[in-house]
Amino acid sequence: MNNDLYAVVGNPISHSKSPRIHSLFASQTGEKLEYTAIQAPEDDFAGTVTGFFQRGGQGLNVTVPFKEQAWKLADRRTERAELAGASNTLYQDSKGLLTADNTDGKGLVTDLTVNHGISLTGKRILVLGAGGAVRGVLGPILAEHPDALTIANRTVAKAEGLVKLFKPVSGQTRFDACGFEQPAEPFDLIINGTSASLQGDLPPVSADVIGVETVIYDMMYSLQTTTFNQWALDQGATRVFDGLGMLVEQAAESFRIWRGFSPKTQPVIDELRND
Ligand code: ATR
Repeated sequence: MNNDLYAVVGNPISHSKSPRIHSLFASQTGEKLEYTAIQAPEDDFAGTVTGFFQRGGQGLNVTVPFKEQAWKLADRRTERAELAGASNTLYQDSKGLLTADNTDGKGLVTDLTVNHGISLTGKRILVLGAGGAVRGVLGPILAEHPDALTIANRTVAKAEGLVKLFKPVSGQTRFDACGFEQPAEPFDLIINGTSASLQGDLPPVSADVIGVETVIYDMMYSLQTTTFNQWALDQGATRVFDGLGMLVEQAAESFRIWRGFSPKTQPVIDELRND
Protein backbone atom coordinates (compact mmCIF):
# COMPACT_ATOMS: atom_id res chain seq x y z
CA MET A 1 0.00 0.00 0.00
CA ASN A 2 1.20 3.53 -0.78
CA ASN A 3 1.93 5.91 2.08
CA ASP A 4 -0.61 8.67 2.77
CA LEU A 5 0.50 11.71 0.86
CA TYR A 6 0.72 15.32 2.11
CA ALA A 7 2.68 18.38 1.01
CA VAL A 8 3.32 22.05 1.55
CA VAL A 9 2.98 24.32 -1.50
CA GLY A 10 4.72 27.68 -1.82
CA ASN A 11 7.21 29.64 -3.90
CA PRO A 12 10.00 29.54 -2.85
CA ILE A 13 9.64 26.43 -0.69
CA SER A 14 13.09 24.86 -0.23
CA HIS A 15 13.56 26.37 3.26
CA SER A 16 10.21 25.14 4.58
CA LYS A 17 10.36 23.33 7.92
CA SER A 18 6.95 21.72 7.38
CA PRO A 19 8.20 18.37 5.95
CA ARG A 20 10.43 17.92 8.98
CA ILE A 21 7.71 18.95 11.45
CA HIS A 22 5.13 16.58 9.96
CA SER A 23 7.53 13.65 9.78
CA LEU A 24 8.35 14.20 13.47
CA PHE A 25 4.60 14.18 14.23
CA ALA A 26 4.11 10.97 12.24
CA SER A 27 6.97 9.25 14.02
CA GLN A 28 5.16 9.77 17.35
CA THR A 29 2.64 7.11 16.33
CA GLY A 30 4.85 5.13 14.00
CA GLU A 31 2.52 6.04 11.12
CA LYS A 32 3.86 5.98 7.60
CA LEU A 33 3.20 9.11 5.63
CA GLU A 34 4.93 11.04 2.93
CA TYR A 35 5.08 14.83 3.29
CA THR A 36 6.89 16.71 0.54
CA ALA A 37 7.53 20.35 -0.41
CA ILE A 38 6.15 21.47 -3.76
CA GLN A 39 7.21 24.66 -5.49
CA ALA A 40 4.20 25.78 -7.53
CA PRO A 41 4.76 28.08 -10.51
CA GLU A 42 3.63 31.62 -9.62
CA ASP A 43 0.98 31.40 -12.34
CA ASP A 44 -0.31 27.89 -11.75
CA PHE A 45 -1.14 27.33 -8.10
CA ALA A 46 -4.57 25.95 -9.05
CA GLY A 47 -3.09 23.37 -11.41
CA THR A 48 -0.62 22.28 -8.74
CA VAL A 49 -3.39 21.76 -6.18
CA THR A 50 -5.66 19.92 -8.61
CA GLY A 51 -2.83 17.65 -9.74
CA PHE A 52 -1.87 16.84 -6.14
CA PHE A 53 -5.37 15.71 -5.16
CA GLN A 54 -5.77 13.80 -8.45
CA ARG A 55 -2.65 11.82 -7.54
CA GLY A 56 -4.41 10.79 -4.31
CA GLY A 57 -2.97 13.49 -2.03
CA GLN A 58 -4.76 13.77 1.31
CA GLY A 59 -3.90 17.24 2.56
CA LEU A 60 -1.96 20.34 1.61
CA ASN A 61 -0.41 23.13 3.59
CA VAL A 62 -0.16 26.40 1.72
CA THR A 63 2.37 29.14 2.31
CA VAL A 64 3.61 32.40 0.78
CA PRO A 65 2.48 33.65 -1.72
CA PHE A 66 -0.54 31.38 -2.25
CA LYS A 67 -2.66 31.56 0.92
CA GLU A 68 -5.22 33.96 -0.56
CA GLN A 69 -5.39 31.91 -3.78
CA ALA A 70 -6.00 28.75 -1.75
CA TRP A 71 -8.91 30.50 -0.05
CA LYS A 72 -10.39 31.57 -3.39
CA LEU A 73 -9.89 28.19 -5.02
CA ALA A 74 -11.71 26.18 -2.36
CA ASP A 75 -15.28 24.90 -2.83
CA ARG A 76 -15.99 25.52 0.85
CA ARG A 77 -14.31 27.23 3.80
CA THR A 78 -14.42 26.72 7.53
CA GLU A 79 -15.72 29.64 9.55
CA ARG A 80 -12.28 30.63 10.76
CA ALA A 81 -10.85 30.45 7.22
CA GLU A 82 -13.73 32.58 5.95
CA LEU A 83 -12.79 35.38 8.38
CA ALA A 84 -9.05 34.95 7.84
CA GLY A 85 -9.42 35.57 4.09
CA ALA A 86 -6.61 33.10 3.49
CA SER A 87 -6.00 29.40 3.89
CA ASN A 88 -2.94 27.43 4.99
CA THR A 89 -4.69 24.03 5.08
CA LEU A 90 -6.55 22.29 2.26
CA TYR A 91 -8.22 18.89 2.10
CA GLN A 92 -11.13 17.17 0.40
CA ASP A 93 -14.18 16.62 2.54
CA SER A 94 -16.22 13.39 2.49
CA LYS A 95 -18.04 14.61 -0.64
CA GLY A 96 -14.76 15.37 -2.40
CA LEU A 97 -15.19 19.15 -2.04
CA LEU A 98 -11.94 21.11 -1.73
CA THR A 99 -12.11 22.56 1.78
CA ALA A 100 -10.04 25.50 3.07
CA ASP A 101 -9.17 25.91 6.73
CA ASN A 102 -6.80 28.29 8.48
CA THR A 103 -4.83 27.05 11.48
CA ASP A 104 -2.46 30.02 11.90
CA GLY A 105 -4.51 31.84 14.54
CA LYS A 106 -5.09 28.65 16.51
CA GLY A 107 -1.33 28.04 16.29
CA LEU A 108 -0.50 31.46 17.70
CA VAL A 109 -3.04 31.27 20.53
CA THR A 110 -2.01 27.73 21.52
CA ASP A 111 1.66 28.73 21.59
CA LEU A 112 0.90 31.74 23.80
CA THR A 113 -1.62 30.13 26.15
CA VAL A 114 -0.41 26.53 26.40
CA ASN A 115 3.32 26.61 25.67
CA HIS A 116 4.06 29.96 27.32
CA GLY A 117 1.23 29.96 29.88
CA ILE A 118 0.00 33.45 28.91
CA SER A 119 -3.74 33.96 29.09
CA LEU A 120 -5.15 36.55 26.66
CA THR A 121 -8.44 36.89 28.51
CA GLY A 122 -8.91 40.37 30.00
CA LYS A 123 -5.55 41.54 28.65
CA ARG A 124 -4.62 44.71 26.75
CA ILE A 125 -3.09 43.65 23.45
CA LEU A 126 -1.27 45.66 20.78
CA VAL A 127 -0.99 44.05 17.35
CA LEU A 128 1.51 45.60 14.93
CA GLY A 129 0.71 45.18 11.23
CA ALA A 130 -2.49 44.80 9.23
CA GLY A 131 -1.56 42.48 6.37
CA GLY A 132 -2.55 38.91 5.62
CA ALA A 133 -0.60 37.45 8.54
CA VAL A 134 -2.49 39.63 11.03
CA ARG A 135 -5.88 39.05 9.43
CA GLY A 136 -5.21 35.31 9.78
CA VAL A 137 -4.86 35.48 13.58
CA LEU A 138 -7.36 38.13 14.71
CA GLY A 139 -10.38 35.82 15.00
CA PRO A 140 -8.73 33.35 17.43
CA ILE A 141 -7.21 36.26 19.45
CA LEU A 142 -10.61 37.93 19.84
CA ALA A 143 -12.16 34.59 20.78
CA GLU A 144 -9.99 34.68 23.94
CA HIS A 145 -11.88 37.85 25.04
CA PRO A 146 -9.07 40.34 25.62
CA ASP A 147 -10.05 43.54 27.42
CA ALA A 148 -8.66 45.68 24.60
CA LEU A 149 -7.11 45.08 21.19
CA THR A 150 -5.37 47.85 19.26
CA ILE A 151 -4.15 47.30 15.71
CA ALA A 152 -1.37 49.69 14.72
CA ASN A 153 -0.11 49.86 11.16
CA ARG A 154 1.98 52.01 8.83
CA THR A 155 -1.07 52.33 6.57
CA VAL A 156 -3.74 53.22 9.12
CA ALA A 157 -6.61 52.62 6.67
CA LYS A 158 -5.69 48.91 6.53
CA ALA A 159 -5.83 48.63 10.32
CA GLU A 160 -9.20 50.41 10.27
CA GLY A 161 -10.42 47.98 7.61
CA LEU A 162 -9.54 45.02 9.84
CA VAL A 163 -11.33 46.56 12.82
CA LYS A 164 -14.45 46.99 10.68
CA LEU A 165 -14.20 43.43 9.39
CA PHE A 166 -13.72 41.82 12.81
CA LYS A 167 -16.05 44.10 14.80
CA PRO A 168 -18.91 41.57 14.61
CA VAL A 169 -16.79 38.96 16.44
CA SER A 170 -15.13 41.35 18.91
CA GLY A 171 -17.72 40.96 21.68
CA GLN A 172 -16.94 43.14 24.72
CA THR A 173 -13.33 43.78 23.66
CA ARG A 174 -12.45 47.47 23.14
CA PHE A 175 -11.15 47.32 19.61
CA ASP A 176 -9.45 50.13 17.67
CA ALA A 177 -6.95 51.05 14.97
CA CYS A 178 -4.16 53.64 14.80
CA GLY A 179 -0.71 54.46 13.41
CA PHE A 180 2.52 53.19 14.97
CA GLU A 181 3.33 56.44 16.75
CA GLN A 182 0.06 56.74 18.65
CA PRO A 183 0.16 54.08 21.41
CA ALA A 184 2.12 55.42 24.40
CA GLU A 185 1.05 53.28 27.38
CA PRO A 186 2.35 49.85 28.37
CA PHE A 187 0.41 46.87 26.99
CA ASP A 188 0.18 43.39 28.53
CA LEU A 189 1.04 41.75 25.20
CA ILE A 190 2.52 43.09 21.97
CA ILE A 191 2.38 40.91 18.86
CA ASN A 192 4.52 41.89 15.90
CA GLY A 193 2.76 40.76 12.72
CA THR A 194 4.53 43.12 10.32
CA SER A 195 6.99 41.84 7.78
CA ALA A 196 9.34 44.74 8.63
CA SER A 197 12.03 42.47 10.08
CA LEU A 198 12.40 40.75 6.69
CA GLN A 199 14.11 43.98 5.65
CA GLY A 200 15.79 44.34 9.06
CA ASP A 201 13.36 47.21 9.78
CA LEU A 202 11.44 48.04 12.93
CA PRO A 203 7.88 49.35 13.15
CA PRO A 204 8.43 52.79 14.73
CA VAL A 205 6.46 52.28 17.96
CA SER A 206 7.25 54.21 21.13
CA ALA A 207 9.29 52.43 23.80
CA ASP A 208 6.51 53.52 26.20
CA VAL A 209 4.36 50.58 25.03
CA ILE A 210 6.75 48.26 26.88
CA GLY A 211 6.46 47.92 30.65
CA VAL A 212 8.20 45.47 32.98
CA GLU A 213 5.38 42.95 32.64
CA THR A 214 4.86 43.28 28.88
CA VAL A 215 5.04 40.05 26.91
CA ILE A 216 6.47 40.39 23.40
CA TYR A 217 5.62 37.94 20.61
CA ASP A 218 7.16 38.21 17.15
CA MET A 219 5.26 36.04 14.66
CA MET A 220 8.54 35.73 12.73
CA TYR A 221 11.26 33.39 13.89
CA SER A 222 14.95 33.05 13.14
CA LEU A 223 17.98 31.34 14.60
CA GLN A 224 19.12 34.64 16.09
CA THR A 225 16.85 36.88 18.17
CA THR A 226 14.56 38.71 15.72
CA THR A 227 15.12 42.42 15.06
CA PHE A 228 11.88 43.29 16.84
CA ASN A 229 12.57 41.12 19.87
CA GLN A 230 16.08 42.53 20.20
CA TRP A 231 14.62 46.04 20.17
CA ALA A 232 12.12 45.03 22.86
CA LEU A 233 14.88 43.51 25.01
CA ASP A 234 16.85 46.73 24.63
CA GLN A 235 13.82 48.64 25.97
CA GLY A 236 13.71 46.45 29.09
CA ALA A 237 11.29 43.68 28.06
CA THR A 238 12.04 40.38 29.78
CA ARG A 239 9.50 37.98 28.30
CA VAL A 240 10.16 37.77 24.59
CA PHE A 241 9.08 34.96 22.24
CA ASP A 242 9.40 34.29 18.52
CA GLY A 243 7.06 32.45 16.15
CA LEU A 244 8.70 29.01 16.09
CA GLY A 245 6.08 27.62 18.48
CA MET A 246 3.31 29.11 16.33
CA LEU A 247 4.77 27.39 13.28
CA VAL A 248 4.76 24.01 15.01
CA GLU A 249 1.30 24.53 16.53
CA GLN A 250 -0.33 25.51 13.21
CA ALA A 251 1.20 22.36 11.73
CA ALA A 252 -0.15 20.28 14.63
CA GLU A 253 -3.65 21.63 14.05
CA SER A 254 -3.42 20.75 10.33
CA PHE A 255 -2.23 17.25 11.27
CA ARG A 256 -5.19 16.88 13.64
CA ILE A 257 -7.66 17.97 10.94
CA TRP A 258 -6.23 15.51 8.41
CA ARG A 259 -5.51 12.54 10.66
CA GLY A 260 -7.66 12.96 13.77
CA PHE A 261 -4.63 12.87 16.06
CA SER A 262 -3.10 15.76 18.02
CA PRO A 263 0.66 15.29 18.09
CA LYS A 264 2.86 16.37 20.99
CA THR A 265 4.42 19.68 20.01
CA GLN A 266 6.98 20.57 22.69
CA PRO A 267 9.50 17.88 21.69
CA VAL A 268 9.21 19.05 18.07
CA ILE A 269 9.70 22.71 19.04
CA ASP A 270 12.76 21.71 21.10
CA GLU A 271 14.21 19.67 18.27
CA LEU A 272 13.80 22.48 15.71
CA ARG A 273 15.26 25.02 18.12
CA ASN A 274 18.38 22.87 18.41
CA ASP A 275 18.84 22.45 14.65
P1 ATR B 1 1.90 39.34 5.35
O1 ATR B 1 1.22 38.26 4.58
O2 ATR B 1 3.25 38.96 5.91
O3 ATR B 1 1.02 39.93 6.39
P2 ATR B 1 1.43 41.72 3.86
O4 ATR B 1 -0.01 41.40 3.69
O5 ATR B 1 2.20 42.31 2.71
O6 ATR B 1 2.26 40.45 4.27
O7 ATR B 1 1.56 42.69 5.14
C1 ATR B 1 2.80 43.15 5.60
C2 ATR B 1 2.57 43.99 6.86
O8 ATR B 1 3.85 44.47 7.33
C3 ATR B 1 1.74 45.24 6.63
O9 ATR B 1 1.08 45.58 7.82
C4 ATR B 1 2.81 46.26 6.27
O10 ATR B 1 2.41 47.60 6.45
P3 ATR B 1 1.50 48.35 5.33
O11 ATR B 1 0.13 47.79 5.47
O12 ATR B 1 1.58 49.78 5.70
O13 ATR B 1 2.15 48.03 4.01
C5 ATR B 1 3.87 45.89 7.26
N1 ATR B 1 5.22 46.31 6.87
C6 ATR B 1 5.96 45.80 5.86
N2 ATR B 1 7.17 46.39 5.81
C7 ATR B 1 7.19 47.29 6.84
C8 ATR B 1 8.17 48.22 7.33
N3 ATR B 1 9.37 48.31 6.75
N4 ATR B 1 7.86 48.96 8.40
C9 ATR B 1 6.65 48.85 8.99
N5 ATR B 1 5.67 48.01 8.58
C10 ATR B 1 5.94 47.24 7.52
